[in-house]
Amino acid sequence: MTTDALNCLQTRLPEWQARVERALQRWLPAEHIHPTRLHDAMRYAVLGGGKRVRPVLVYATGAALGAPLDTLDGPASALELIHVYSLVHDDLPAMDDDDLRRGKPTCHRSYDEATALLVGDALQALAFYILAHDSAMQAPAALRLSMVEQLALAAGSRGMCGGQAIDLAAVGQQLDIAQLEDMHIHKTGALIRAAVRLGALSAPDTDAATLQSLDHYAKCIGLAFQIRDDILDVEANTETLGKRQGADIAQNKPTYPSIIGLDAAKQRARELYEESLGTLNDFDHRADPLRGLAHFIVERAF
Ligand code: IPE
Ligand code: IPE
Ligand code: MG
Ligand code: MG
Ligand code: MG
Repeated sequence: MTTDALNCLQTRLPEWQARVERALQRWLPAEHIHPTRLHDAMRYAVLGGGKRVRPVLVYATGAALGAPLDTLDGPASALELIHVYSLVHDDLPAMDDDDLRRGKPTCHRSYDEATALLVGDALQALAFYILAHDSAMQAPAALRLSMVEQLALAAGSRGMCGGQAIDLAAVGQQLDIAQLEDMHIHKTGALIRAAVRLGALSAPDTDAATLQSLDHYAKCIGLAFQIRDDILDVEANTETLGKRQGADIAQNKPTYPSIIGLDAAKQRARELYEESLGTLNDFDHRADPLRGLAHFIVERAF
């Protein structure tokens, strides 16, 4: 990893974060639009928080392949909306029962549980509406359909939702490493893979070999992302995380640190990072933000 790659991400990260923030601002219905409480809660959950890693992955992948930025705002927003919906539901009492998210009370704490359920439902629908509707994407109908298909698969029972089901069933269980990996690649890896996939599909003429390399990259960083999340649950503090530290231990969740220990978990994340860089060997400097993002994912402090 060159310092160029890291510097490149350091300038692009805030640009792309700000870019998706603006796009989300535009797509979310205003608070004063009927039904106002639901729209207010949707904006509360989505705007002004989070690292925006999935949208940034869409931009970084698209940029690596020469896709115009305007065409990436729709897919980037769609990914973030599915992610936020997953967080709002993940925090509900029936799931992880958390009170703090992105440094403020969780959606069901600020509003109520029924509203939080509806926020998740509505954000999911909005994500697919954007992919179908956004004229800036310039994608022909067949390509949009392929994006809808990929995002639906990643969000559904064979992706994120399936992973959440595995997670809930695993509470109090002693999983082996293969089962733990299976849970992580579903609940977190699937959306990260979809982010890279939609970024790649947004570029003209992406060939199958390029898609395959990028998919391998995404699998590595997707798993590494959740391993890092598990490590931070042990090592970080609530204020830095913006969510409750120690939530996994309190809930008796099997995690990488709880099953293989902190050092081995860190080692596994580093191996996945190295492997992810290897998948980008044939890419030029335009893939530097992707290289920098892999580093960010395994080293992040929150
Ligand atoms: C947290 O995701 C939930 C996981 C999938 C591990 P992020 O760490 O991306 O949360 P935000 O979006 O930055 O708040
Ligand atoms: C959440 O995993 C994964 C999804 C939201 C799909 P966690 O439950 O570990 O996420 P945090 O730690 O609450 O952000
Ligand atoms: Mg959870
Ligand atoms: Mg949680
Ligand atoms: Mg966690």
